[in-house]
Amino acid sequence: MTDFQQENHKLTADEKLNLLVEFGTRISSELRLDKLLDIIARQITRMLNVGRCTIYLKDIERNELWSKIAQGKGLEHTEIRLPLDGNNIAAIVARTGQTINLQNAYADDRFSMAIDMVTDFRTHTLLTIPLKNNTGKVLGVFQVANKADSTPFDNKDEGILLLLATLAASSIEIAKLYQDIHVAQLETIYRLAVTAEYRDQQDTRAHLKNISIISYLLALALGMTKKEAELIKNASPLHDIGKVALADNILLKPGRLSDEEFEIMKSHTVYGGRILEGAHSKVLQVAHKMSLYHHEKWNGTGYPKGLKGEDIPLEARIITVADVFDALCVSRVYKKAWKTDDAYLYILGEAGKAFDPRIVAAFKKIYSSVRKLYLNQTPQTQESPAIKAEAPKAPVSIPQKPLPPQP
Ligand code: C2E
Ligand code: SIN
Ligand code: SIN
Ligand code: FE
Repeated sequence: MTDFQQENHKLTADEKLNLLVEFGTRISSELRLDKLLDIIARQITRMLNVGRCTIYLKDIERNELWSKIAQGKGLEHTEIRLPLDGNNIAAIVARTGQTINLQNAYADDRFSMAIDMVTDFRTHTLLTIPLKNNTGKVLGVFQVANKADSTPFDNKDEGILLLLATLAASSIEIAKLYQDIHVAQLETIYRLAVTAEYRDQQDTRAHLKNISIISYLLALALGMTKKEAELIKNASPLHDIGKVALADNILLKPGRLSDEEFEIMKSHTVYGGRILEGAHSKVLQVAHKMSLYHHEKWNGTGYPKGLKGEDIPLEARIITVADVFDALCVSRVYKKAWKTDDAYLYILGEAGKAFDPRIVAAFKKIYSSVRKLYLNQTPQTQESPAIKAEAPKAPVSIPQKPLPPQP
């Protein structure tokens, strides 16, 4: 590298101040932890002009430090985990709260080369500082390697990195809190949905999981953003929540329902609507529309309101296709399971009748994936071990905690 090129990489005081302001602004508006850590790492790489920046956060429950690989061939988003009580640099800094500055990482036996090996990176100089919150609690560490000018990290670098860490700490804590709340919310939703469904479902978890996956794929096939599709996925398990209000003699009736009984059955939509009415969270607002309108039909012959066409909220038009397809594919007290491909043909035949033709077209696009999902699950009448083994995984992105026992 010539002097001229090096000069080009050095930042003026003004540029640094601008970066600092930009850093503060960008990190304070990001609530998603993954994105936040990514932004912080990229900004630090730029501001300190280093080869790599890694952020490790403490995972108290597992007594580990974890980090996502930001760079590296095909390894993006892979998680690295180090034992918090181990003899590696990051863990020592996290435990002691003291900075470690190595001029030659490979000469220090506390440095673990394993990460360099997987990321195809050669660490020379390595500066590792503690990430502390405003009460002094260590949340993790920031680690930077290899200054562009190949000089060792000095006091100034340490000062800048500590300053950035101080700026970043509260954003990281807030994002972690949001993540915890989000996970807790999804778990609560899921458990609520299980409560509503497990009286009339042989395998509630598989049913809820399949419906949420189909809804998600439909939303994506319809061109929705990943965020919108996730909202639909997360809300979908609640569509039949109103069934909690139905008596066993109707919900569990082995044969056909009388007209009178079916009228009562229909009220599960209205009950669901009431249970979720006026919700504040986005996901429950979507669930509200789904539970109230998931039995409306495109041609206006559905219930409870007999809404027609695009008067039916899109979220409900999506869940109804997922719900009917899954209901056909499984056995109920009142019916046998259909063959997957027969259920598919039924859905196609209902385009423009029960279902929005656009959504049926989207279902066509995703059907090969859906088919695989169902073919991998042996029919439920057989109480298959395959489904049992799958069950605890239940809807996508829901924590793998034990579920309440089936009655
Ligand atoms: P579900 O069992 O979850 O079924 C959801 C929807 O899937 C049904 O809404 C219907 O549109 C479709 N579906 C399910 N099985 C069949 C089928 O064998 N043939 C056809 N063509 N479509 C089917 P629907 O009809 O509004 O029923 C709502 C809920 O009412 C059902 O939810 C189920 O819990 C209950 N239900 C409906 N019919 C009967 C019945 O004859 N006996 C009993 N015990 N329950 C029934
Ligand atoms: C360590 O902290 O010892 C490992 C860090 C790394 O290789 O990036
Ligand atoms: C959020 O706002 O928490 C993300 C939306 C979601 O996936 O539920
Ligand atoms: Fe329903």
